[in-house]
Amino acid sequence: MNVLGIETTCDETSASVVSNGTRIITNVVSTSLELQSKYGGIVPEVAAREQVKLIVPVIDEAVGENKVDAVAVAYGPGLAGSLLVGVEAAKTLSLAWNVPLIRVNHLFGHIYANWVGENVPKFPLIALIVSGGHTDLLLMKGHGKFKWLGGTRDDAAGEAFDKISRLLGLGYPGGPGIEKEAAKWKGKTSLKFPRPLKNSGDFDFSFSGLKTAVAYLVEKSGKDASKAPITFEAQEAIVDVLTTKAVLAARKFKVKNIVVGGGVSANFRLRDVMKRAGEKEGLRFYFPEKRLSTDNGAMIASAAYYNQEKIDPLKLTARPDLYFD
Ligand code: KG4
Ligand code: ZN
Repeated sequence: MNVLGIETTCDETSASVVSNGTRIITNVVSTSLELQSKYGGIVPEVAAREQVKLIVPVIDEAVGENKVDAVAVAYGPGLAGSLLVGVEAAKTLSLAWNVPLIRVNHLFGHIYANWVGENVPKFPLIALIVSGGHTDLLLMKGHGKFKWLGGTRDDAAGEAFDKISRLLGLGYPGGPGIEKEAAKWKGKTSLKFPRPLKNSGDFDFSFSGLKTAVAYLVEKSGKDASKAPITFEAQEAIVDVLTTKAVLAARKFKVKNIVVGGGVSANFRLRDVMKRAGEKEGLRFYFPEKRLSTDNGAMIASAAYYNQEKIDPLKLTARPDLYFD
């Protein structure tokens, strides 16, 4: 079964044809990021306008001569204007081609990026979503069978990377810039940033205090602030909290597999620390192929294949505030 997955929740316009939820036939990703980075963040109106420009060529390229058995679309959460473009395109194609329309929660899409490829994860598992807007832990016993365990009380992990990057003038999005700068720092630093809620025993997160700590330090040291150790320690703090909580969840619910998805899962230091924690604890961590960590249509097609939530095309509407309901 070939599913066309459409992803337009934020600044990426992506369409992908995936066979049986695991094999990518095409995956086209276009982004208005360069345009956005001029503003130091996403401007919703700019993102929506770019979505309108890109949606037809991106879908055209992804579909090509391929057979499409169903159309899937991320209908939330995300920016209202951006979401609308993908949702309307998907509805139109489903009606025009007379194929089912499947709706996908973007957050589940990030989890299912792990099903694309060879090493399909095994249930039961803990899923950790670490994106620009979300940080959530879930227990999954099967496709569509999940329990939300906790999430961030303030900033998401990706948002922490973005805000700290902004403070240090390292560009937008912040994750890649911070990772690169942090890699320049070899060895230890006397800096110690807080690890909020690390030992709280629950599955909630809080990252806004970390940004405040960096802001305070930057203000105090002014031009003398050396970026490499700050980015290094900030990344360590985020990675430490995420790893600790994911391992705690796996222990508590006695599962052996942990699936990580979302933009922050592209971070090499996170992957490394988690893998090592996994070896020590007898747990297996799964990560998407790096290009599938950030927003893409393939993960939407895969999530749709495994959770075929078909919907009447005339009834689907975008849900900017969609969460786990
Ligand atoms: O999942 P995503 O593409 O979009 C959302 O659904 O939000 O995630 C984007 C987030 C941004 O906050 C970005 O800074 C972060 O993912 N990110 C990274 C890395 N690459 C992207 N964070 C840490 N390290 C990276 N290499
Ligand atoms: Zn995303």
